[in-house]
Amino acid sequence: MNDVADYDLFDYDYSTYWKNRVYENNSEKLILNKEFKDKKGTFFLDIGGSYGRLTDTYYKGYSHPIIMDYSLKTLQKNKDVIKKKYPNTELIAANAYKMPFATSSIDAGLMVRVLHHIEKPEDYFKESARVFKKDAFYVQEFANKMHLKAVIRAVCKLDFKFFSKEPYNHPLTRSNAEGTDQGIAGIFYNFHPEDVKEKMEKCGFIITKKTGCSFFRMQSLKKIFGDNTLLQMEKVQQKLLSWTNIPPSIFYSTTLKKKNNDKLINNSEKLEDILVCPECKGKLNFTEKEATCTHCKHTYKKEKDIWDFRIM
Ligand SMILES: C[S@@+](CC[C@H](N)C(=O)[O-])C[C@H]1O[C@@H](n2cnc3c(N)ncnc32)[C@H](O)[C@@H]1O
Ligand SMILES: [Zn+2]
Repeated sequence: MNDVADYDLFDYDYSTYWKNRVYENNSEKLILNKEFKDKKGTFFLDIGGSYGRLTDTYYKGYSHPIIMDYSLKTLQKNKDVIKKKYPNTELIAANAYKMPFATSSIDAGLMVRVLHHIEKPEDYFKESARVFKKDAFYVQEFANKMHLKAVIRAVCKLDFKFFSKEPYNHPLTRSNAEGTDQGIAGIFYNFHPEDVKEKMEKCGFIITKKTGCSFFRMQSLKKIFGDNTLLQMEKVQQKLLSWTNIPPSIFYSTTLKKKNNDKLINNSEKLEDILVCPECKGKLNFTEKEATCTHCKHTYKKEKDIWDFRIM
């Protein structure tokens, strides 16, 4: 069993995190808008999608976008606003390690600002490679351990162990304590780009593009230049310096290579047809408010339009 960063424990409202981060928000959308511009499909999965901050970047191309998150409270609180803006979107509470989707049922997806909460990325990548279709387009963002400031800090401290591919367990501070409370240790890892690449490739995700993000994530620069100028500067850096490991955040655009097992491909367009038991992946029997696994008999509930498939 893998630990999960449970935002519901502290009633954490993630949208507040974005109030003073216009530059970071726009920098991420710059990449995603470009990556999803001409993409099309049926089911799209936003893993750890929270209150739908990024939904506008993929909504147009996919007929059935799904925002999946472990925080049921976040989904419940934001459901009406999300549904009003993006009516085709489905909200599902579930754990990224154990997803309630049939094998090879999802056309495309993304995970942004969530991998730092994933202690066992290899387990997560294995599960995501299961749910995505062959040749699915998937974007993985991660907090980059080797960013410029961290490297300078390590050299100044003569901390050469820092340069290994091991994930770095980030100490929580007031400004980054997402989903926990002050003084409580949370799951927060920065990853080495090579480590993420190796783990993804092992599961079949072929990295087709690497894009650096938030090159100018510094309060002083925001004050001097303002969000708009910084964004223009960001555009240039994303083009020129994405090959480096300078920025604090990195996006990998990937294509999933896996065996073409036609029997397993699920081309259904109805959500219930692609939902399975997250525990044993068995078939589910549905009533209006409950889904029961025909194999392990586990029952899952639907409340106010949101399926709760959370298991650890
Ligand atoms: C920092 S927020 C990022 C939200 C969104 N992706 C964005 O960029 O705006 C992290 C989200 O990941 C969710 N999360 C963390 N661990 C998860 C897991 N194992 N399975 C599903 N969601 C998870 C949290 O509940 C939270 O909503
Ligand atoms: Zn089951």
